[in-house]
Order: sequence, then structure tokens, then C-alpha cells
Amino acid sequence: MSIFADIFWDLMDYKSKINAEKLPKHIAIIMDGNGRWAKQQGEQRIFGHHNGVSSVRDTTEAAAELGVKYLTLYAFSTENWNRPKDEVEALMELLVMTISKETETLLKNGIRLETIGDIDSLPASCKYQLQEAKEATKAGDRMTLVLALSYSSKWEIVKAVKEIAQEAKDGKLKPEDITEELFAGKLCTSGMPDPELMIRTSGEHRISNFLLWQLSYAEFYFTEKLWPDFRKEDLYEAIYNYQNRERRFGKTSEQIQ
Ligand code: IPE
Ligand code: IPE
Ligand code: MG
Repeated sequence: MSIFADIFWDLMDYKSKINAEKLPKHIAIIMDGNGRWAKQQGEQRIFGHHNGVSSVRDTTEAAAELGVKYLTLYAFSTENWNRPKDEVEALMELLVMTISKETETLLKNGIRLETIGDIDSLPASCKYQLQEAKEATKAGDRMTLVLALSYSSKWEIVKAVKEIAQEAKDGKLKPEDITEELFAGKLCTSGMPDPELMIRTSGEHRISNFLLWQLSYAEFYFTEKLWPDFRKEDLYEAIYNYQNRERRFGKTSEQIQ
């Protein structure tokens, strides 16, 4: 009997194996490998970025369907400004195009768009498009899609420290008032739960200045898949893998059970 159950379990897809009671509330993804994907096809890097949009659509849809509440996608880092000018420009254009094309779908699906990062550093057309989309989708309560744009964790932390220092200087805050909660409230992610699961594609095992504070206790999942190949099934597999880990938070295994 149990051997049949085992075989049956192996044949099931990852989606059916996911425990709806143990879903991560917040998933963060470092979408990496677009350039390598394009190169494999004998194309320019930007071809990979264009194809990565389908993966964004698929992943967003899958996360919302499952009932994930926050999905944060690392789309452009502070360090990415150092890429060749052509690539940066093409990425910004792609961003504007994608946002304007997808706003309707987000709206229909109850998905609220948010951003984290130095949005003021983006070209005016991007800022405008993002503002419009955020405004249009602000009532969406099924899931929040957070785009990390011109984002880096060290930038975000220094910005928070400056704000706190200013408030202390102005007499609004005493050093003893500074708590983890107060600090977290000064970050771009203020009000959002910390991600329980962080996924990075393309086989790189680093976090590249992404959510250093917020990922303190996240489970990391790395896959060799390049971002343009990432599909719903890959997200299901990552969540299933996450659900089979023991999250101890410093305690012993016996204390958890
Ligand atoms: C991720 O893919 C997208 C961005 C960082 C904007 P890459 O462009 O980093 O692709 P690889 O890592 O060079 O293959
Ligand atoms: C991280 O990818 C940033 C984004 C996915 C937006 P990178 O490709 O820029 O990171 P490194 O350079 O490999 O660390
Ligand atoms: Mg990369």
C-alpha cells in the first residue's frame, strides 16, 4: 500500500504537493541570467531581458493564484547603473513598456504595484509610468507586487540611518527609542512582512546587495535555471522545497516539534 502511495506522490506535480496552510507570505526573487540566456541563443543581452518579462508574468500569476501576499522582484540594482549605457537605456525602456502594458492585468487580478529603491534616480518617463500604475492598482488586495528598482540594501540602510540621525538631532527621538521595529519602519519595505523565501536563478549563490536586513531569517533557494526559462512549475518547486525545511530560529529541533 505505502509503496503505491510513494509512487503516486512522486508522480504528483509540485503544485499539488504544496501545503496551502504553510505558504510563505512574502517571496523575494533575484531574477538573474538574462544575459547568459540571450548569449546561448546567439542574441544580444537585451533579448534576454525581453524574454524575462514572460517569466515575470508567469511567476506573478502563479504567486497570486496560490495566495502569496507579497512578491518582491529584484529588477535593477544600484550597481546595474554601471552597465553599458545601451543596456541601461534598453532596460529602462523595457520597464516603461512593460508597466504600461501590464497595468490592466494587474488591476484585473487585484494586484497592487509597489516599488522599493531610489525611484527618483530613474528617468522621468519611468517615474511617471510607475506612479500611474501604483495609483491605478492601489486598491488591489490580493497580492502586492514589489519591484526593486535602482535598489540596493546598503543604500537603503544608510538612508534609514540618516533619517534616524536627523530625528535624533531634531530632538524627536532618543537613542534608547531605537528598536528593531523602529529601524525596519525606516526601510523601503516598511509595513511589509520579511520574506520567508528568497529565490535566485542562474546558479549564482550570492545576494548582490538585496534586502540584507529583511532576509535575516529567510530560506534561500538557488536554481540553475536562467530567469527567462523560469516558469510557474519552478516557483511551485521552490515553495515545496521551502515547506520541507525545518525553520528553527535559533531553537533546537526538539523545541520546534
Ligand atoms: C538579470 O540578468 C537582469 C538584471 C540584472 C537587470 P543579467 O542581465 O544579470 O544576466 P546575466 O547574469 O549577465 O546572465
Ligand atoms: C542582481 O543581479 C541584480 C538583479 C537581478 C536586478 P546582477 O547580475 O546584477 O548581480 P551580480 O553582478 O551577478 O552580483
Ligand atoms: Mg546577472
